Amino acid sequence: MFELTPELARSLDEAAALILRSKHVVALAGAGLSVESGIPPFRGPGGLWTKYGEPTNLSYREFIRDPGEWWEARFRNEDRPGDPTYELKVAVDQARPNPGHHALVEMEAMGLLKCVVTQNVDNLHREAGSRSLLEIHGNRTWLRCVGCGDRQPREGYHFDSLPPLCAQCGGVIKMDTVMFGEPIPEDVLLASREQAESSDCMLLVGTSGTVNPAARLPLVAKELGASLIEINPDETTLTPWCDITLRGPSGELLPLLVKRLKNGGAAKPAGRA
Ligand code: OAD
Repeated sequence: MFELTPELARSLDEAAALILRSKHVVALAGAGLSVESGIPPFRGPGGLWTKYGEPTNLSYREFIRDPGEWWEARFRNEDRPGDPTYELKVAVDQARPNPGHHALVEMEAMGLLKCVVTQNVDNLHREAGSRSLLEIHGNRTWLRCVGCGDRQPREGYHFDSLPPLCAQCGGVIKMDTVMFGEPIPEDVLLASREQAESSDCMLLVGTSGTVNPAARLPLVAKELGASLIEINPDETTLTPWCDITLRGPSGELLPLLVKRLKNGGAAKPAGRA
């Protein structure tokens, strides 16, 4: 049960003041942000990998070996309860953005958040209305060509033959979601690094900070002088590098942060008790 302690309220004030002083705030988001939308995280309590074990690093290699068979298996729809892919799919299909996603959109609209770099593939940032968004692990509602990197929405795509081939370059088309063992697409990786290098303040929201290259972005930012604010109920590998830690669920804390940002850094408008 979330409780706003006086200490946490003070840390929220400090975080708001820091954000208002900063010129280029970037958020790095992870699975924890979508927990309050009903999507399980990967690690920690209730995590998919905690429950089922971390998958092997081979899924991209298997896809590349026989993309036709991969797509056919997908259309056979063989995932069943007891399978992490199935569990994730059922949860994501039902999920809606939560107050944490909306708070990030509000921060962007206020001009206080320049970019969200997200590891989440669930499309909830877009549904909430985030505009400056880098989906470093892809987006499950999009397709991507492994040859030229061209992306298109999966909805409305006609799978005339399997594997589907790119109309631009003839390359094989896969889901945009980055598979285990697959390199991060160069365009999004470069843009994410640029954001980390430009940032003077980074919010680390609901990420365990264990998967590279995303987990390295805050360290790059820190090395170049940025401040780090962590929003997470638990400690992470990134905690020791953080200037401010806000312990609690992001769906509760981000709206409280936005409230302070609207009031110029304070919990209540100036002049009120
Ligand atoms: P993890 O599952 O590794 O970490 C989720 C983090 O969210 C943990 O630190 C939790 O403590 C925290 N958390 C839990 N509930 C929360 C809440 N309500 N509010 C805020 N934080 C909460 O997720 P990621 O760091 O995103 O890769 O994992 C990175 C990558 O590992 C994923 O993108 C995925 C996975 O393998 C791919 O799918 C390619």
